[in-house]
Amino acid sequence: MGSSALAVSGAPSLAPDDEEVLSEIRRLFKRKDYHPPKPPSAALEVRSAAEREDATIEDVVQLLERDALLAAETLRLAQSPSFASRIAPRTIHEAVMRLGLRTLVNVVWQAALAAGVFKAKGYEEAMESLRRHSTATAALARFVLQKAGRGAKSERAFLVALLHDVGVAALLVALADGELEAGSLEEAVPMIEVAHEEAGLLLTRLWKLPVDLQLALSQHHGVEGDHGGEVDEVQQALDVAQHLAAAHGCSLVLAGRTLDTVPEAHATAAAESLGLDLESLLEPAAEVVQAAVR
Ligand SMILES: [Fe+2]
Ligand SMILES: [Fe+2]
Repeated sequence: MGSSALAVSGAPSLAPDDEEVLSEIRRLFKRKDYHPPKPPSAALEVRSAAEREDATIEDVVQLLERDALLAAETLRLAQSPSFASRIAPRTIHEAVMRLGLRTLVNVVWQAALAAGVFKAKGYEEAMESLRRHSTATAALARFVLQKAGRGAKSERAFLVALLHDVGVAALLVALADGELEAGSLEEAVPMIEVAHEEAGLLLTRLWKLPVDLQLALSQHHGVEGDHGGEVDEVQQALDVAQHLAAAHGCSLVLAGRTLDTVPEAHATAAAESLGLDLESLLEPAAEVVQAAVR
């Protein structure tokens, strides 16, 4: 974080108070008696099964079928217009065949988050805004990279975008459980704004997600310093996607305050680096959002 050409407006520069907030979050995640949200174990298992070279479709189907709720939600999502091809799959086996393993892993992640990995009593509205924001941003990040002819990176962009604000969910759960004291949600919003990247990093580290994914989430508002080298296309797609999501009513709104705003100039520049024109993405993006968010 900090001030850099890559930082967007959702990335406030750190004041001494902010350092204190971050230290408190780090202390919380280190405490032996703290129980952070459990990882969606079926999603993790499906992911590692899908990465094995000798993985068969049957292995993945069996894993999914052990979790009836997740299997049902995966099938429901696989039938939605954002995933289904001409004919919607009717069984998990068909879904795996149609979508391919990489896309299926992303569907399973989305299903796991929708099925309630995160429960925060009293913060349901905020959690719903987060779900819409993450789902829309994920579908848009994939759409943007496909449009840019970078289809090979589009499934990775989907997962990074789906999980980019997972730290917000972790912090809402900690607030609901009384692990963090911040008064009302309104009073907690500045803390969430400052600490959600760090919380996302700590949570996904506990979940043992791949390090490059942890890093992508922990720096989704931009990183310190000038890279000089190749700017990450997944990050650019995420910036464009967050802007498009906001344009179509899927901003992240907590207690009436909008977070994670990517200014138009920044999104335009990110789109240009991908060889795209932001303006012309606006209209087709509406359809992508509609198919993804229900
Ligand atoms: Fe964020
Ligand atoms: Fe966001």
